Amino acid sequence: MAQGDLILMGPPGSGKGTQAKMLAARKGWAQLSTGELFRDHERRDTALGKLAREHTERGAYVPDEVTVGMVRERLSEIPESTRIVFDGFPRTVAQSDSLDELLGESGRRVERVLLLEVPSEELVTRLMGRGRSDDRPEVIRKRLEVYEGQTRPVLEHYRTRGLLRQVSGLGTPEDIAARVNAEVG
Ligand code: AP5
Ligand code: MG
Repeated sequence: MAQGDLILMGPPGSGKGTQAKMLAARKGWAQLSTGELFRDHERRDTALGKLAREHTERGAYVPDEVTVGMVRERLSEIPESTRIVFDGFPRTVAQSDSLDELLGESGRRVERVLLLEVPSEELVTRLMGRGRSDDRPEVIRKRLEVYEGQTRPVLEHYRTRGLLRQVSGLGTPEDIAARVNAEVG
């Protein structure tokens, strides 16, 4: 596959973060995780962190302008020659349009979008076993609902452009990494 960036998509608990981290470590790519960036702001108690927490603790999405602004800033720190694996962004149709613009401005493009497929019972089991502050049952339910309503449509955006591939997210993290690797080349 020619040089380009990768987007990992999938519902909460599908393993986006786990796979993005493994891929970044293996290949020296940069991982851009909006969830991690928000949690980092929350830990440091910045103004952005306070705002983000109001949404993340309910399992709702942080507003697009805020999220896109944060991504723009992070993108400006990544050298042009470093490939990026996006984890948890974009997750609304508006964000995917913004990403196209942002990447275009910096001479980048989306090469491939991988959808990690995991049945919902398994998602709930994984998240309940982790215990992050937004892994409470009612918040998990809300996150899954918001994913279906707001992020499913983003898949179409990439499917119609021929960039989307579905990958089974079941098995050990290493099994899945091998599948991801095969798609990335
Ligand atoms: P975010 O941090 O992105 O959370 P999420 O999408 O809900 O997904 P998770 O991080 O819970 O799951 P994951 O797919 O990364 O799986 P993981 O590898 O961790 O977002 C959090 C919040 O921030 C959102 O709710 C929203 O409020 C806000 N936000 C973030 N991005 C936003 C955006 N773009 N716009 C607006 N708001 C945004 O794995 C999950 C668990 O399973 C772990 O315990 C892991 O160890 C385990 N596991 C992983 N792989 C396997 C495996 N193969 N087998 C068994 N267990 C596994
Ligand atoms: Mg994650």
